[in-house]
Amino acid sequence: MNSDIKHAAQLLNQGDLVAFPTETVYGLGACFDNPEAIRKIYTIKGRPSNNPLIVHISHIDQLQLLIAGEISDQYQSLIDTIWPGPLTLIFPKNPSVLPEVTGGLDTVAIRMPRHPLALELIEETGKPLVAPSANPSGKPSATHNQHVYEYFGDEVYCLKGGFCTVGLESTVLIIKNNLPTILRAGVISPQDIENVIKTPVVIADHTDPTPLSPGMMYRHYAPEAKLQIAKDPTQIQSILTEYQHHPYPLGLLLSDETIQSLDIPFGVQVKSLGSQSRPTEISRNMYQTMIAFDHTDVEHIWTETFDTSGIGLAIMDKLTRASDSTTELPEQSKSK
Ligand code: TXA
Ligand code: MG
Repeated sequence: MNSDIKHAAQLLNQGDLVAFPTETVYGLGACFDNPEAIRKIYTIKGRPSNNPLIVHISHIDQLQLLIAGEISDQYQSLIDTIWPGPLTLIFPKNPSVLPEVTGGLDTVAIRMPRHPLALELIEETGKPLVAPSANPSGKPSATHNQHVYEYFGDEVYCLKGGFCTVGLESTVLIIKNNLPTILRAGVISPQDIENVIKTPVVIADHTDPTPLSPGMMYRHYAPEAKLQIAKDPTQIQSILTEYQHHPYPLGLLLSDETIQSLDIPFGVQVKSLGSQSRPTEISRNMYQTMIAFDHTDVEHIWTETFDTSGIGLAIMDKLTRASDSTTELPEQSKSK
């Protein structure tokens, strides 16, 4: 057993927070049964208290501690096919689950991550861990231990796993009254879920005044610069023509194909998200490129519109939330 994992598990069991890698993004973990530790998560992230947390398990037997009633056949087939992996399922909660975990809801979000360090840490701690993404509320999620360090410094011990392979948060799914609804788009696409449960999946409408998933009310994942999504490369080329007359700290966050098609003037800072033909590369690069722009003097970033099939749905969801056109952050998060 890796001595870092032993140390991290000790910290968790004494009520401290520990950041750890998952295949999606780094999580900021606490023991699921320690209310003071969970409150520390909300404080350190500047997270609204009505935004519930995901409980991470390492073994299927741990589900019984957390849920009420039987596991439905549809959930069972998703668990058998996709766990461990980037799919969070919403269950009716066991009465013993703390209200601090669920933001007072009568449901609980659960996933079994696929990263070996995450699974070993949960095993060594001996109980499930609650973990939101390891970033201050509203900032891009950490996809490398270095990002966690930049966000929280020595305040939080972090297990080092290098880059996350997926790079975007898990898909959040609820199946209620036989109606499967995606509450948060992620790397597991609607088609992936439909292939398993053989039932059409609905995508939640986040303009609904009473959203099913509280986290979807907030603007998210935003770099410090103003981010805008161009409808096509022609629009970006005309922005670049304008730039040549009036230069300003401009950045471009684009696919390789779009970069190659443009005539980009000297002085514009360009970051590649990867090739359009490999959407998993685009998702893996998204947060790290946004964070990299935070280290430059760029004040305005233009990105592009991606195809929304498969994982593209999650890519466009993240870009749209990071762009200026979406809902404002609540006051308490703005100050972070
Ligand atoms: O990939 C991930 O899911 C990462 C890694 C660390 O596992 N975690 C993550 O957690 O993204 P967080 O806290 O940043 O996002 C959790 C999302 C929020 O949108 C929250 O509102 C939703 O899950 N959620 C949690 N419990 C819920 C519930 N009972 N009902 C509906 N939505 C819930
Ligand atoms: Mg998050």
